[in-house]
Amino acid sequence: MTMKIGIDALGVAIPRRYVDMVELARARGIEPGKYVEGLGAREMAVAEPGEDTVALAARAASRALAASEIDRSNLGMLIVGTETGVDHSKPVASFVHGLLDLPRTMRVYDTQHACYGGTAGLMAAVEWIASGSAAGRSALVVCSDIARYGVGTAGEPTQGAGAVAMVVSANPALLEIDVGVSGAASAHVHDFWRPLGMREAQVDGHYSVQCYLDAVSTAYRGWKARAIERGLVRATVGEQVSEQLARVCYHVPFCKMARKAHLQVRKSELEDAGTAWDAAADQVGLASFRTQVEPSLGLCARVGNVYTGSLYLGLAGLLSTQAGELAGARIGMFSYGSGCTSEFFSGVVGKGAAARIAAAKLGDMLDARERISVAEYERIMAMPPSTPPADMAASDGFRFVGVTNHQRQYAK
Ligand code: HMG
Repeated sequence: MTMKIGIDALGVAIPRRYVDMVELARARGIEPGKYVEGLGAREMAVAEPGEDTVALAARAASRALAASEIDRSNLGMLIVGTETGVDHSKPVASFVHGLLDLPRTMRVYDTQHACYGGTAGLMAAVEWIASGSAAGRSALVVCSDIARYGVGTAGEPTQGAGAVAMVVSANPALLEIDVGVSGAASAHVHDFWRPLGMREAQVDGHYSVQCYLDAVSTAYRGWKARAIERGLVRATVGEQVSEQLARVCYHVPFCKMARKAHLQVRKSELEDAGTAWDAAADQVGLASFRTQVEPSLGLCARVGNVYTGSLYLGLAGLLSTQAGELAGARIGMFSYGSGCTSEFFSGVVGKGAAARIAAAKLGDMLDARERISVAEYERIMAMPPSTPPADMAASDGFRFVGVTNHQRQYAK
């Protein structure tokens, strides 16, 4: 019998503060409809210097471990996917390993390829378990990032920050990954990048959208061919194979991107069948988006882009509202990292998913946040990254507290 492998528990960490997108649009002299309907954004997380990539990763990781039933001494691997690390050499994973006092016998490292870094970690963990090397042990995979383009830029309303940690194990409660059934697409493009030493990402915004759409077509076709080969879906003439997936979660740099991606997947299917895309196909596609994709966007619309964690924030949002009805159903997952690389894969929602995700208390976490003014957000954005936090005493969990001898210090 093949082993079931996948995500057993999730933990999410987001900054304690956010700005409202209507207020941000008005401050920029922009019609709020552009941010709210045009991009699909409602609120945007604002990370203070104390809430850096390490602090968010450690908070999410400790929550994922608390939600999971695994014994920490059974962890054999810790991978952090991030594109906003804090050191050129020492990985974020190493800080997290120390802060959580995890077993000394673990393999610990970071993975990087823009927003795909977390998926690289997840796939390494899944394949480590599938290969037998894990010998019964589990892995902890954390995605953590601060998405920053700068005040007044076109990318500004697509910022955000947060971390999603996943316990990856055999017999997972949340999502059993279809191991070996995925499609990848990569190309050397300058759609989004961040040169060494720069805090703000450089981006060719509209080109990045096109690169993402090109990638999702190729990756989806790769997944579909393997999924048909393995009998996970049926090849049917004139039917969208993607409709055999109960839901599809996409990488969400902003919510509207998931809609564009879903329509692109459907266009690719029609193209393969030699049928033209027309207004009717667009309408059917939008209806399918509402059922298959929209339920995964609730959390993303209230946090913004969290780069590596965005796909998994979508999954967390989906499971927190629909895990019960999705138990036993197959869902699609698309991860995109600028530069670019991407992967379309799938998995089956576990029977224990509803209870496990309820323990993550995602709604309470959002409600506990403080809404700040645009002026306060701009003040935070202007702070140097190594500013020790002045008033984080009330914060829940790990935080960055300053630098001593070039070594970053954290407290709880
Ligand atoms: P822009 O040029 O300011 O916006 O930048 P726009 O003019 O394209 O308008 C956006 C949408 O709002 C359009 O909808 C407008 O029609 C609509 P669309 O045509 O696309 O469907 N709109 C309105 N809707 C309702 N009422 C109104 C109104 N006005 C306009 N009044 C852009 C948009 C996304 C380019 C910019 O925000 C940006 O550069 N963002 C950062 C890059 C990005 O997120 N790229 C996504 C793909 S790449 C990726 O996902 C990887 C990434 O996560 C990084 C990584 O991998 O590490 C970014």
